[in-house]
This record gives sequence, C-alpha cells and structure tokens, in this order.
Amino acid sequence: MLALTITAYAVGIVLLGCGSAILLSMQIARKSAAPFFPSAKSTVRLALAAADLRPGESFYDLGAGTGASIVVADREFGARAIGSEISILPYLLAKIRIFLSRSKAKMRFEDLFNEDVRDADVVFCFLAERVLGRVAEKLRKELKPGARIVSYAFTLPGMVPERTIPVHGAWKLYLYRISGTGR
Ligand SMILES: C[S@@+](CC[C@H](N)C(=O)[O-])C[C@H]1O[C@@H](n2cnc3c(N)ncnc32)[C@H](O)[C@@H]1O
Repeated sequence: MLALTITAYAVGIVLLGCGSAILLSMQIARKSAAPFFPSAKSTVRLALAAADLRPGESFYDLGAGTGASIVVADREFGARAIGSEISILPYLLAKIRIFLSRSKAKMRFEDLFNEDVRDADVVFCFLAERVLGRVAEKLRKELKPGARIVSYAFTLPGMVPERTIPVHGAWKLYLYRISGTGR
C-alpha cells in the first residue's frame, strides 16, 4: 500500500514537472517570436507552390511548430527541409510527425535567430508582427540572391513583396525574393 502511494506521488510529481516544463517553454516561445498557432496544410502547400520550391532545394521553417511545412516540403516537393522550434511540445510532436510520415525532414530544438539560413532557397515564417523587423534583417543579411521568403499573415518591414496570395478572409501569404542573380 505504501509502495503504491509513493509510486502515485512520484508519477504525480513527474507529470507536474513535465506539464510545467511544457507550459514554461510555450510561454518563452510566445514571448520570443510567436505563440504556437499552426498553419493549415493547404496554406503550407500554397506557400511552397508560390515560392516555386524545387526538388533538392533547401527549405527552412523558422518557428516550425509541429512540423507540417517541413514534412510537406520533403514529402511533396522533394526539398531538404529543416525546422527550428524552441517550444518543447510542438518540437516533440514534430519529431513524431516526421517519424510517422517517414520523412527525411530535420527538426532542431533551436532559437530561430540562431539558425544559419545561408544555404536556404526558401524560408517560411509565420511569426508575430513585432519580431518581423529583426527576422527581415537576419534574412537580408544571410540569404543568397534568388532565395525566396514566404511570410504568413504579416509583411516583412523594409521589404517589398513580389506577390501577395490570399488565403482566407484577411489572411495572406507574402512572397519575397532576394534580389541579384539566381532565379
Ligand atoms: C505561429 S506558430 C507557426 C508554426 C508553424 N510555422 C506553422 O506555420 O504551422 C510560431 C511557432 O514559432 C515558435 N517560436 C516562437 N519563438 C521562437 C524562437 N525564438 N525560435 C524558434 N521557434 C520559435 C513557437 O513555439 C511556435 O511554434
């Protein structure tokens, strides 16, 4: 009986610890660049088609959530897909999604501002408006000429979109291209 009570307490403490860690990491992510709010797969497909993502190209989702875009980029577009995420629950769900869909996409538990995107052909982001100035500055500094960016919901400050793609209601995708040579 005592053993059972101790086990129950131990399980309770572990669950409480895990729950607190998940809530804390979600709070950190919300304060950092955006809360978790997943894009529909249809939106992701629209974004990747608009960016003309080709087989073998490098694709990054900065703040990849549960990994829908990187799995679609890998499985349906044949791209080398990488996602970065700092919230533990979406990160783990993305790893499970990658495993279950037998995808070669890579998910990194990393702050998007530390992600090196110099080899990216296409970058997707769905982030809070308040951080997009910093994101745009990073992308302008790192991306090669011809690289495309698709921002969902908000425009990138200081950059002019090549195309605006309506999704539903007021929600739009904004496609940008880094100027210079490249396609
Ligand atoms: C609006 S959700 C979009 C998720 C995914 N890109 C999609 O479209 O379904 C934004 C994601 O960014 C993550 N995030 C917020 N700040 C971050 C940071 N500094 N580095 C990496 N991920 C971050 C959040 O945890 C959340 O999962």
